[in-house]
Amino acid sequence: MPEKINSALKNKPIGIFDSGFGGLTVMSAVNKILPNENLIYFGDTAHVPYGSKSKDAVVKFSKDIASFLIKKDIKLLVIACNTASAFALSVLKKSVSIPVVGVIEPGAKAAVKNAKNGRIGIIGTEGTVASGSYFKAVKKISGAAVFQQACPLFVPLVEEGWNKGKIAQDIIGVYLKPLLAKNIDALILGCTHYPLLKELLSKATGANVELIDSANAAALEVKEILLKKDMLSDAKKKASLKFYVSDNPKKFQKIGGKFFLKKINGVKKINLERICEV
Ligand code: DGL
Repeated sequence: MPEKINSALKNKPIGIFDSGFGGLTVMSAVNKILPNENLIYFGDTAHVPYGSKSKDAVVKFSKDIASFLIKKDIKLLVIACNTASAFALSVLKKSVSIPVVGVIEPGAKAAVKNAKNGRIGIIGTEGTVASGSYFKAVKKISGAAVFQQACPLFVPLVEEGWNKGKIAQDIIGVYLKPLLAKNIDALILGCTHYPLLKELLSKATGANVELIDSANAAALEVKEILLKKDMLSDAKKKASLKFYVSDNPKKFQKIGGKFFLKKINGVKKINLERICEV
């Protein structure tokens, strides 16, 4: 008979990390689906953006952050960043002893489920698209036709608060044109920032293209894993939400609310250089 998991273990926090603010869209989805779970977020604001960095650099940052979060005694690690999921998921899965969830496989699964005609578009950072991770994840589970497009201007647009209006709409039109020419019927939003462009993206794609939010898909995967392992929190009190960054906590506090959809308080700065590797 499986051993009964005790409450102390169930009520350990979930660790979530990203290159900066963007992963707060994933934290927000986890918090919505699992409101009783204690969450610890790390935003690597000293090294953002990951999207244009090398695999080696992103793997190193990801290992340092995982080491920090594991010292916080987390029960599960979520790689909220698509670029870090593309580059570091397999490395972290091998080097840590807790479950690790990335955003790519859940996003790919959701796309396959929703693409009625099996024609899937993927948009992401240069790193995510070049890694071919979404492409391979979709191909592993289906015979869908897959088309990719890197959209490097989307992250700065969102961070500048230009996620609405004509400039954003025009840029979206240019990036999506080649994908729409392929008659896609699902579009994977393969970057933490893209949920904030949903309104304009769906205007550009029209109602026949299903927008797939990897953040939501990853949050559902977290729930499924914890349920299977009998590790869902059984706490009766309000869950605690903690935020750490590697630089500029004030800016994170100010801008983060836009991604988390709630006000953010008590952001602490951590020096990652002092943390040893996993
Ligand atoms: N978080 C990154 C991602 O989802 C986007 C921002 C960055 O380039 O660091 O790929």
